[in-house]
Amino acid sequence: MTSKLSYINLIRQRSSRRSYKPEMLSDDIQEQIDEILKTIPAGPFGTNPIFRLIRKSMAADQKIKLGTYGFISGAQYFVVGKTVSGTEAFVDFGYCMEWIILQLTGLGLGTCWLGGTFTRSEFARLVNLYEDEVIPAITPVGHATEKRSIRDRLIRIGAGSNHRKPWSEMFFNGDFNHPLTEVKAGDNVTVLEMVRLAPSASNKQPWRVVQSRQRLSFLFAANSGLQSHVPGD
Ligand SMILES: Cc1cc2nc3c(=O)[nH]c(=O)nc-3n(C[C@H](O)[C@H](O)[C@H](O)COP(=O)(O)O)c2cc1C
Repeated sequence: MTSKLSYINLIRQRSSRRSYKPEMLSDDIQEQIDEILKTIPAGPFGTNPIFRLIRKSMAADQKIKLGTYGFISGAQYFVVGKTVSGTEAFVDFGYCMEWIILQLTGLGLGTCWLGGTFTRSEFARLVNLYEDEVIPAITPVGHATEKRSIRDRLIRIGAGSNHRKPWSEMFFNGDFNHPLTEVKAGDNVTVLEMVRLAPSASNKQPWRVVQSRQRLSFLFAANSGLQSHVPGD
């Protein structure tokens, strides 16, 4: 099992990778990925998102064209997840997806959350999507190229991906008039720093956390430029 310390390292190590070496993954790595997908922990609300490893060539055999609107290059594999619509199901989905991404990071593989830039209806054909189910996000997985592509670098500049908001804009003490300092966070300091480093769509970092008596309340910033639900097609 991955220890708390390893998670901290994995969270620090992870970054979105958009260009991949076009080679196949070894059988050993594929088996390890299958194992990861079989041992996903339950999310906080106990709903059951389902994740599958999809090979691009397998889709091509069925005349299914997996696309990412040019955002991802070279990737031969994707992890695709589905769940039912609903706030709790989406929270569980996010929890499980990030857990998978951190495990894949631990295998030395590249990943990139894709919530918007993929051909949803084509991916849906591969995971037998029922009427009440959606694919909130997918990730390519594979060996990332040593150097980022120009496109990846431009996307990162556009989203400001190398930067995170300072503590004073995200974390508060008691109410929104009092920013939470790292000293005042006490035992919560590391957990909150990990929240700060987490990935978000367009790097909008919409979460706000208020600490009172060491208890943390998580809120969604309505002015973040993101919607509080996962969009469909
Ligand atoms: C829910 C979610 C959806 C995302 N959707 C996309 C996407 O559709 N296309 C894309 O290129 N990156 C997408 N990203 C990646 C973000 O742009 C990236 O996480 C952010 O810029 C921070 O960069 P980092 O992941 O390297 O830390 C998404 C990230 C999250 C968490």
